[in-house]
Amino acid sequence: MCGIVGYIGSQQRAIDAVLNGLTALEYRGYDSAGIAFLDGETIITNKQVGRVQALRDALGDDKTAMTAIGHTRWATHGGVTIKNAHPHYNSDQTIAVVHNGIIENHVELRNSLRAQGYIFVSDTDTEVVSHLIDLYRRSSKTFQEAFEQALGQLRGAYALGVITAEEPDVLYAARLSSPLVLGVGDGMCIVASDPSAVMEHTRRVVYLNDYEFIRAERDGTYHIKDFKHSLPVSRKAEVLDYDATKAGKGDYAHFMLKEIYEAPYTLRSATLGRIRVESSTTKLGGLENVTSQLRYIDRLVIVACGTSYYAGLVGEYLIEEIAGIPVEVQLASEFKYRNEPFSRSTALLAISQSGETADTIAALKKVEDYGCLRLGVVNTVGSTIARMTDAGVYCHAGPEQAVASTKAFIAQVTVLTLIALHLSNGASKLYRPLLAELDALPKKAETILAQAASMKRLAKKYAHYRDFMFLGRGYGYPCALEGALKLKETSYIHAEGYAAGEMKHGPLAMIDPDFPTFAIATHSPLLEKTYSNIEEIRARQGKVLAIATEGNETIARLADDVIYIPETLDQTSPLLVAIAMQLFSYYVAVTKGYDVDRPRNLAKSVTVE
Ligand code: AGP
Repeated sequence: MCGIVGYIGSQQRAIDAVLNGLTALEYRGYDSAGIAFLDGETIITNKQVGRVQALRDALGDDKTAMTAIGHTRWATHGGVTIKNAHPHYNSDQTIAVVHNGIIENHVELRNSLRAQGYIFVSDTDTEVVSHLIDLYRRSSKTFQEAFEQALGQLRGAYALGVITAEEPDVLYAARLSSPLVLGVGDGMCIVASDPSAVMEHTRRVVYLNDYEFIRAERDGTYHIKDFKHSLPVSRKAEVLDYDATKAGKGDYAHFMLKEIYEAPYTLRSATLGRIRVESSTTKLGGLENVTSQLRYIDRLVIVACGTSYYAGLVGEYLIEEIAGIPVEVQLASEFKYRNEPFSRSTALLAISQSGETADTIAALKKVEDYGCLRLGVVNTVGSTIARMTDAGVYCHAGPEQAVASTKAFIAQVTVLTLIALHLSNGASKLYRPLLAELDALPKKAETILAQAASMKRLAKKYAHYRDFMFLGRGYGYPCALEGALKLKETSYIHAEGYAAGEMKHGPLAMIDPDFPTFAIATHSPLLEKTYSNIEEIRARQGKVLAIATEGNETIARLADDVIYIPETLDQTSPLLVAIAMQLFSYYVAVTKGYDVDRPRNLAKSVTVE
């Protein structure tokens, strides 16, 4: 995801400080970078597509400044281009802004500013901030007042850094939902998306809360204000106990663990600006240009690979149950060679985290001259698959560095739930309950993440087995397949994912004391039948590790071990079950001492067929 850095100080060190800070934030993944700094009362900006090093090369060594802001961009709104890179500024370039997050109401603000004569040069949501401050500056006594008024108009999530030619000795920053930390030192202040970017200068940090902004001065003094209640905030700096060697993964041992722990943020950012619980509406901007074509779709074919394919299987159950549209999920590598009837009222939906998977690209190419609608659920903005589709919904999960896909699965299933709701046009009885549950899920995800210690113990207990069965019914079945893949690809253990109802048709023959089963037994209309499957396994001395819903006492009598997840709808259970299975697989791999982030033989993006 994006990262911001802002520096102000009495030394001419702002440019180096911002570039080094952006380098420290590179682990967040990005596709372009930019910097703006004050040279006297003029704002100089430089933006590059690609790495921070390209910025350094472009600036050379002779540039100095005392006030600067910088940004690494992971594209969410608008492609990967220099004009979309941050900083963004107002028309006379006297105000520069960097932003991490999503301005939910950017379309309304853009239209209103355009109606007042403002001209936009980028496709980003962020640009509205610089013009909005400019607009308020025309009627306010001070720049700070204009900044505060603009903040009051923004909805969504932001960590903002702002400089102005009007006040070259001041750096502004503000926070709502996106992380922001202030580092304070002798004669300097630095703001950043996370502590790793301030460590070079100081260990004294102040964490900002939502609806707070900072006015930092060149002598290192700062003032914080709660702009929601218009109250000054007095907050002492704390000393950061930070081991810089862990930089890149934050405080996590591996990217996979970090990305699993991002689940609450992922659930929030995949729905941000897309659900309105109070008005029971969904808003998928990426599908608005195909609204009329969607009305005539009578069948959906989902194509994907690996984890994205299993997300598609969850999507099949969701879209059929909520929107009543027949869905068929196919492995992209099979779809491209099939000779199947394909009518124009069938839409193809490609799911891909990287947006560069060769098999999925080939599937899209196959239907190029079919005249059918091609949709995408993609995480990487501007990727090949995103550009090949007619419309789609971005996952907004931020970059996923570990080969084993975790948060991308969570984001994909969340987006597929939104698509099912969107296609139902509000007609489904599940519409309101699902909107409310999606809004509640981030907190429930935190409950599961809090069980990491017990998950670690279970992983140690089961890590020595060479075979594993994963079983589920209904929404639990795709979870069983995905859980088996997670264990396979991180721990190299033979793991089979099966529909629980299939056990008697053959797989039961494999069960013995050395072949444990991971059973998904969360609340569902099929739970009693899953109990029967568990009893079949235990009757053959098979060990059972079950995932169940909090409060289920029956399962404790049936299984050897139980992982409890919070109560949730059957339809949203994959989102919570997945987190538990991801943690389990992660800790098994760590127990076995494997390279968790880079498993043998695998690549993060399979760009060859
Ligand atoms: C999942 O953990 C694997 N990394 C792999 O199966 C992956 O899901 C598959 O290669 C598809 O990648 P994509 O989502 O980028 O298209």
